[in-house]
Amino acid sequence: MIVNIGLIGFGTVGSGVYDLIMQNACLIKERTGLDLRIKTVCDIRTEDVKKKVGSINVINDWRDVITDKEIDTVVELIGGISPAKSIILESLKNGKNVVTANKKLLAEDGDEIFNTAGMSNSKLGFEASVGGGMPCILSLKYGLVGTRINTVIGILNGTTNYILTKMEDEGLTFEMALKDAQDKGFAEADPTFDIEGFDAGHKIALLSMLAYNRKVDFKSISIDGITKINQLDIEYAKEMGYVIKLLGISKLIGDEVDIRVHPAMLPMDHPLASVRNEFNAVMYITDMTGPVILYGKGAGNHPTASAVVSDIVQIARDTVKDDKALTASIDSKYLSSEKRLFRFYMRLSTEDRPGILSKISGVLAKYDISIASVIQKEIHTKNPDSKNVPLVIMTHVACEDKMLRSIDEINNFNFVEGKVTFIKVEDSLSLGDEYE
Ligand code: HSE
Repeated sequence: MIVNIGLIGFGTVGSGVYDLIMQNACLIKERTGLDLRIKTVCDIRTEDVKKKVGSINVINDWRDVITDKEIDTVVELIGGISPAKSIILESLKNGKNVVTANKKLLAEDGDEIFNTAGMSNSKLGFEASVGGGMPCILSLKYGLVGTRINTVIGILNGTTNYILTKMEDEGLTFEMALKDAQDKGFAEADPTFDIEGFDAGHKIALLSMLAYNRKVDFKSISIDGITKINQLDIEYAKEMGYVIKLLGISKLIGDEVDIRVHPAMLPMDHPLASVRNEFNAVMYITDMTGPVILYGKGAGNHPTASAVVSDIVQIARDTVKDDKALTASIDSKYLSSEKRLFRFYMRLSTEDRPGILSKISGVLAKYDISIASVIQKEIHTKNPDSKNVPLVIMTHVACEDKMLRSIDEINNFNFVEGKVTFIKVEDSLSLGDEYE
């Protein structure tokens, strides 16, 4: 069977899809009997694209793709909201199957798209929107479909994982590591999406919808990126047996969901602690299987192209209408911050004189927060000009709400320079025994 593809967008991922089909079309035909053919490429840079794709038809108006009767599957890879949303909706209405990598659109504004796909005879694939080459959506829709999933935890952004790894291993500055990730094609067009945690937020939102069969309001997800992490935090974490990772974490506790993205201290022996560079990993914890981990390249042209082609093939093979998980009717309830419990790492810069430690510990005691360990070095070797010293405190499990209030009070002491840096520790997640 021939599958005629209309490819809209010939950037990093679009050109990766072209490469993959050129290289592996015979193999795919052997495996599946499907003959994948790119009939048309649509991109505003028509002349540049023509030079790369030889005899394939190149146009610059997407409407000519979605109205082409010979095209079965429209692949939307331009990203953003407009015109991507119109391309997807109109393609579905025109009876085309649609494959997209557009996590922002689906996570923030996907309702209409999921509903349209659910009601139409067309299929919508979005494996490429999460985890690049890792089949993490396929695992939820098929592999783990018989289980009750209670936790999804993932390193879901290649750019930030690359930055944190390079800062840790090679002492690169944040800016140098980001530039390097951009040069390698991992970063979003606007890299604030990566470093401020929104990209990971879009991905954990989509995984949560599928894992828990619920609508997720993207605005309800608490998101914090890695811009406040510095070399000192990375070194202190190492000294205490932790590594700092940007995690997307989602839990279903009773009938409440807790979904968040933030830098977290992971114990060095945690399975996700060894996920380095642009690699991603996602751990699902289910009632039947316990933890299941997928690990792989989550960014870049060819890994993401692999997910696009997987959707094209899956859709062509699959004649059953199975988008039900995306038309969920249950609204999520969200866990409040009084119910969120963590250990916290805090670092502050303070004068070195009598009574200071007791004032700080007094505030923590007032809020029922117990100190697990304290580190204070005599001289701040990283900054010999400062008369202040870094003070690092690790707490026992504390309520997030109380911790935030105590940090506000500590920030107001005049002997504290700047603001307290604090990072949540995620050592309670290890293997998810708490959910068995
Ligand atoms: N900017 C993303 C990342 C690309 O770094 O993971 C894949 O979504």
